[in-house]
Amino acid sequence: MEKFIIHGGRPLEGVVTVSGSKNSAVGIIPATVLVKGPCILDNVPEISDVFLLFEILRSFGAEVTRLEKSTYRIDCSSVTPPVVADQQAVRKMRASYYLIGALLGRFGNAKVGLPGGCDFGSRPIDQHIKGFESLGAKVTVDLENCNVIAESDGLNPASIYFDIVSVGATVNVMLASVGVPGKVTIENAAKEPHVVDIANFLNAMGADIKGAGTNVIRINGGKELKGGRYEIVPDQIEAGTYMVAAAIAGGRVEVKNVIPKHMESISAKLEEAGVGIEELDDSIIVTRLDRPERINIKTQPYPGFPTDMQPQFATMLTTAVGASVITEGVYDQRFRYAAELRKMGAKIEVDGNVCVIDGVEKLHGASVRACDLRAGVSMVLAGLAAEGVTEVSEIRHIERGYEGLVEKLRSLGAEIDKVDDGAVLSDAAECCL
Ligand code: EPU
Repeated sequence: MEKFIIHGGRPLEGVVTVSGSKNSAVGIIPATVLVKGPCILDNVPEISDVFLLFEILRSFGAEVTRLEKSTYRIDCSSVTPPVVADQQAVRKMRASYYLIGALLGRFGNAKVGLPGGCDFGSRPIDQHIKGFESLGAKVTVDLENCNVIAESDGLNPASIYFDIVSVGATVNVMLASVGVPGKVTIENAAKEPHVVDIANFLNAMGADIKGAGTNVIRINGGKELKGGRYEIVPDQIEAGTYMVAAAIAGGRVEVKNVIPKHMESISAKLEEAGVGIEELDDSIIVTRLDRPERINIKTQPYPGFPTDMQPQFATMLTTAVGASVITEGVYDQRFRYAAELRKMGAKIEVDGNVCVIDGVEKLHGASVRACDLRAGVSMVLAGLAAEGVTEVSEIRHIERGYEGLVEKLRSLGAEIDKVDDGAVLSDAAECCL
């Protein structure tokens, strides 16, 4: 089993360049199914979730070619039904559910395995299904064979109101709507930067989508998507993770290739914790000299504080001066990593969706596991700050979303290595993805 070994206690210094957004890429790659022509994508993050989606598209008959580092050509022109998505691959990630919307938009029918992804408690897809049904699809969830089947004789215009703000449902229904001959309105839509990026990609390919980034998205469907070139936006959460790395380990780090506007809630919370933040055009310089101050956080849909930065901030706050309270407002179980942090000396208590952290002066190294993607990277952050050696196992979760983590941290002066201890992970453990 591969692990990260971190010798902590070194401040970070230097410049780190952020890769393309994972959550944009995992929407845009399935969206290429809607395009009857070659799409060239720049700034594609080279992470395992992206490689998995490429494999799924190839199994559909798409051509996927790496033109150079982070630039890929995807041509789904020759994809023809019946399209069968490999169930094992689909179940390894959450965003594979975008294949339902994309196949529905292109062919009016889709059969895709139930999605996997990080386990934060129940992650229903009722709003996706509600949206597809409003567009005229009949949706069956075949629990016995773990498939979602969406069928139609052609989709129809509709006005859809989501009961909750969901990134996945917004994107999925937007993808299907591109294939509707007429107008679709999505109300109470998610406003995350990656929702906007996926809409911008579709528009660049020939779609007519207005309002992405507000809570009402209007799609004038039925346009032919012919292909083109598109650059994926920088990853807001990867950028935030390096900002917190500087804040927890100390030192001065310039985080390059960011859109500062996307970072506002993260920058504001770091400043509130006494961390120095200097915004330039496409980079942010983070400076930390003393221990961070205590703060409270509540996670919310964008532009609120992102749930995907909650474990990193909780980890930073384990070494803050004073007690902090974090309220998780998006998921019902996203504090599973607290037990791992306790092994490193953190004082952290969880009650439902609230966690209270009493800052200690120093963490100490320990053997910990990556429970999921963001919790996993937070163990790495804890290791950077801790005295002694930290070993992080189950790093496959982290590699789903962070390109070149070891190289990037080493370039900042961190002492981190990836090793393979030869142990084999059982299939049963693999199913927890
Ligand atoms: N929800 C429902 N019904 C639905 C859909 C969602 O009740 O039909 C609930 C969820 O259970 C959750 C809330 O609504 O409580 C928000 O979920 P959302 O649909 O917005 O999340 P998602 O689309 O499954 C995406 C990101 C996550 C990120 C969330 C929230 C992708 C591929 N994933 O997930 O990213 O946490 O939005 O911003 O875009 C990550 O990158 O580590 C990650 C988990």
